Amino acid sequence: MTMTEPPLATAEATARLDALLRPPRVVSGITPSGSLTLGNYLGALRRFVDGQTSQQGFFFIADLHATTTEHDPARLRELTLETAGLFFAAGLDARYSTVFVQSHVPAHVELAYLLESTAYVGELSRMIQFKEKGGRPRTRASLFTYPCLMAADILLYETQTVPVGGDQDQHVELCRDVAQRFNREYADTFVVPRLDKAALAARVADLLLPTSKMSKSAPPAAPGVVRMLDSPDTIRRKIARAVTDSRAQVRYDPVTQPGLSNLLDIIAAITHQSPHHVATGFSSYADVKRSCTDHVVEMLVPVQRRYAELARDRGHLVSLLDTGAAEARATAAPVLTRARDAMGLV
Ligand code: TYM
Repeated sequence: MTMTEPPLATAEATARLDALLRPPRVVSGITPSGSLTLGNYLGALRRFVDGQTSQQGFFFIADLHATTTEHDPARLRELTLETAGLFFAAGLDARYSTVFVQSHVPAHVELAYLLESTAYVGELSRMIQFKEKGGRPRTRASLFTYPCLMAADILLYETQTVPVGGDQDQHVELCRDVAQRFNREYADTFVVPRLDKAALAARVADLLLPTSKMSKSAPPAAPGVVRMLDSPDTIRRKIARAVTDSRAQVRYDPVTQPGLSNLLDIIAAITHQSPHHVATGFSSYADVKRSCTDHVVEMLVPVQRRYAELARDRGHLVSLLDTGAAEARATAAPVLTRARDAMGLV
């Protein structure tokens, strides 16, 4: 130790004080496994933007997660940059938020391995995503260990909250369990985060299959999936064909009227009202569809315009991502060092 370095106990106390004084941190990511949907926007991206001036946000394009299933490398490259463009076009601002590509920060992979030595096979086998897509001889090993990578994504940034849609509960819960176990078995290393699920539109449904999630990994032209970059005409056509029912009664009831309720949910999320209240303003399904289309188009068109500008200057986009990755690497490094030390790696 040189004379200028504070004793370890003081350095730790300073780090803890810094953590108490800084704005709350949030972290979240989106996998570039398809062109982003209205569900990704309402359940996640829009919420990243909403809190960004009062929080310190770390938002990333989870490209490593996109390799857990078969993928085309050229398409992954394209989708990674498209997703990054949409992050900024939606309003993320590099002055407030750190936006980066996951694979540019190697600490994610390194911590994921350390966490694989903390998580149990039993709990990973219970993950719904693994049960749905896994279990075949050619299932990739990374699909099984994926929740450890996701836990690393979160724990590296000492975040209090993780804003996500409704389908990520189980993964965030596993992250909490693993962090608590690590802290107990080794040393107090990780901040244990909590899930911050969208209050509205936590699970936007497919317009044609309203009991299933609207998914970006559906085929590119899937008619029940509204993409953030769909033209107003395409959006209008998709919503006009949305499945409803034959009751001809506008009520919010996701169990008996899932298709109609999905449209009401979308309007409610965009206008920040309760879906029950939204339902009282309509007398026909055609009116609901018209209003839903108008709200979605009005919300997405400015984002699309900004995206078009950003897409014209890829160099600028790449440099924004480089800056974000450097910030993320600097933030993640001390946490990774603490985890390595706690586990006895010299
Ligand atoms: P992903 O890429 O499937 O989804 C990105 C975000 O969008 C939300 N979402 C939805 N919300 C409402 N309705 C929908 N139909 C809908 N579809 C998706 C998701 O809940 C998510 O918030 N594993 C994650 C990415 C990830 C991550 C992380 C998230 C990797 N590491 C760390 C948070 C923290 C995933 O594949 O999400």
